[in-house]
Amino acid sequence: MNVIEADGLCHGVWLPGRQRLDILRGVELAVAEGESVAITGRSGSGKTTLLALLGLLTPVGEGTLAIAGRNVTNLSDRNRALWRNEHIGFVFQSYSLVRHLSAYRNVELPLRYGEGLHYRQRAQRVESALDSVGLRDRARSKPRQLSGGEQQRVAIARALVRHPAVILADEPTGALDVDTASTVLRTLRTACRERRTTLVVVTHDPQVAQGMDRVVRLMDGRLA
Ligand SMILES: Nc1ncnc2c1ncn2[C@@H]1O[C@H](COP(=O)(O)OP(=O)(O)OP(=O)(O)O)[C@@H](O)[C@H]1O
Ligand SMILES: [Mg+2]
Repeated sequence: MNVIEADGLCHGVWLPGRQRLDILRGVELAVAEGESVAITGRSGSGKTTLLALLGLLTPVGEGTLAIAGRNVTNLSDRNRALWRNEHIGFVFQSYSLVRHLSAYRNVELPLRYGEGLHYRQRAQRVESALDSVGLRDRARSKPRQLSGGEQQRVAIARALVRHPAVILADEPTGALDVDTASTVLRTLRTACRERRTTLVVVTHDPQVAQGMDRVVRLMDGRLA
């Protein structure tokens, strides 16, 4: 089954002076369950714009999109947000952890919205997610007590904790040195593979791209 199916996705914005900038001009992308894909492309080619569409942050203007078996093209803002919370996890370049909360509490946050899990089940989910990124013993640490790579692994655990069908990562290793980046990426890939989570990573780094099942390049608003 394809977890992501995008057909003819277009996206443009209006610039000052009634100028139209067409960022995406017919993106076709199908990603299977458990598959990992790297999206590359030069700066400004529309990678983040595409990820925002796939992640249901931006409504689809033109084209069609199905995520986790549902046609989401015409969903209302509210239903898009609900589907996003249930099926999509995000990892960004800046880890965006809550500073005053421990690693444990940061990972637990997404479980506090949506369907109510029991305290016990919540704890199990959080511990298993922290386990997946090798940080179970750092559960009590605050972000400032963790290295950059460790903070990003906490962010990965937070993305995993609701068992999403898809994880979307935008330059997840962009702020890390080369060695740390490769550890973090391996962690992300392994965790996704074990859980059969579909993974889409935007990256400039050829080494990151090489570790994925497939690499696609965004150019002139289309994927090649
Ligand atoms: N809301 C907006 N208004 C005007 N222009 C925008 C808007 N959003 C994106 N753009 C433009 O669209 C193009 C694609 O932006 P996007 O952020 O998707 O690129 P990117 O491939 O992620 O680049 P980078 O590798 O630098 O992160 C850029 O030229 C950007 O300036
Ligand atoms: Mg970007």
